Amino acid sequence: MIIYGISANEHDAGLAVVREENILFASHAERYSRLKNDAHLNPALIADARDFGKPDLIVWYERPFLKRARKLWAGQYNDALRPDGAAYLDRFGFDVPVHYVGHHECHAAAGYFTSPFDRAAILVVDAIGEWDTISAWEGDGRKLGKIWSQRYPHSLGLLYSAFTQRIGLKPNEEEYILMGMAALGDPTYADRIRKDFIARFDPPQLLLKENVHRGVRWWEPNLQDRENIAASVQQVTEEILLGLVLWLAEKTRLRKLVLMGGVALNCVANSRIARAKIFDDIWIMPNPGDAGSSIGAVAAYTRRHLAWVHPYLGYNIDRPFDIDGAIAALEAGEVIGIANGRAEFGPRALGNRSLMTDPRGPHAKDRVNRIKQRERFRPFAPIVMAEHAHLHFDMPLRTSPYMQFVAPVRDPESFPAITHFDGTARVQTLTWRQNPTIYGLLERFHARTGCPMLLNTSLNIKGEPIVNTWADAERFASLWQVRVF
Ligand SMILES: [Fe+2]
Repeated sequence: MIIYGISANEHDAGLAVVREENILFASHAERYSRLKNDAHLNPALIADARDFGKPDLIVWYERPFLKRARKLWAGQYNDALRPDGAAYLDRFGFDVPVHYVGHHECHAAAGYFTSPFDRAAILVVDAIGEWDTISAWEGDGRKLGKIWSQRYPHSLGLLYSAFTQRIGLKPNEEEYILMGMAALGDPTYADRIRKDFIARFDPPQLLLKENVHRGVRWWEPNLQDRENIAASVQQVTEEILLGLVLWLAEKTRLRKLVLMGGVALNCVANSRIARAKIFDDIWIMPNPGDAGSSIGAVAAYTRRHLAWVHPYLGYNIDRPFDIDGAIAALEAGEVIGIANGRAEFGPRALGNRSLMTDPRGPHAKDRVNRIKQRERFRPFAPIVMAEHAHLHFDMPLRTSPYMQFVAPVRDPESFPAITHFDGTARVQTLTWRQNPTIYGLLERFHARTGCPMLLNTSLNIKGEPIVNTWADAERFASLWQVRVF
């Protein structure tokens, strides 16, 4: 039996194809349409999915009736009347039964049923689904039950997005830039943010004074020091998350934690949670936001653990990898593109659609920035052989295979390009099992140079989604005069 999980019609659509416990395919719609965070499915994505089999059943990642009710309550009348669920899928020619599962239940299931745990506490924090904004769950074997939830309009994710907009960034998209900017500032306004927005935080209950759904652009218009505002909202967010995690540990008495929802992309907060050692181990699925709920929808419906191996689940570039050429170029100090094998499912480039270079020396960052054109405060991340990670980084957990945690760099002078202002790096650890091709590249580079890591950033033209096909890669290569392997 083949089940499609679909998350679409809001922002960043995703589609997953699952047969029994195997995830055969999963991708973001944006990779095919070339529209960043595209909310809608498209024929090319569906055609690729169909190559893995036609669906017997579709599971949709939300309950449209509940969502419509919330939108009406919130005054989003036009939005509430759009076709959703099966009515939305009709236009793409699907003619199979459609099941619905709750938005937060999908997040929880995507996390728990891809995790290596058979018992775990699960915390979901996002902006909003139907009504829930924060929820706590307990997974035990095939059982997944909700313990508690906080409802709209009280939302930590919405508060973070509202401040993303307040400092001139794009909400629901550029939250990671706010997080990066926080390292440059001091949390001088944390008290003011607590006083102005938090009516009560008595874990787990979080009550806001304001509905921040339409933003907080009105807040303290004279304050213009974006770095300090960013550091302050980041600080308040971390405190609330820590409070929630502590509560969850006491409530469940479990030792394993699963974190999900868009807020779980905040790798600085994740690291603070890991370092607090409240739980023994933490699993964050590499796509904890709504697109990842395409996998979560299926898991919530089948209530079984999926055979999770790695996140390379998307479009396949099937051509031989010229490792000799790639190594020679890296040794010559070139920035190279890699577009090989199946695309990563999730917002981060984890090796198969990446731009890489030697991270050592003072000029590595400039070389990459010529192409990436990023703000000066934004760091690049290292991809490192897992067995060497602890030598170079003070890791909060044993591994960080999906770039979800930050770690202090032990020798920042040697690796300035991958070291952030606060002395940390957003580390991706890699094993042979996870990605033999890229692990092989790191291994060869290490053997030749003694350096077990490369600078790794996404292979995309500014403002566009990550490269998907070889044609996309060639376009990138000719635009930037970069060799792609
Ligand atoms: Fe969500």
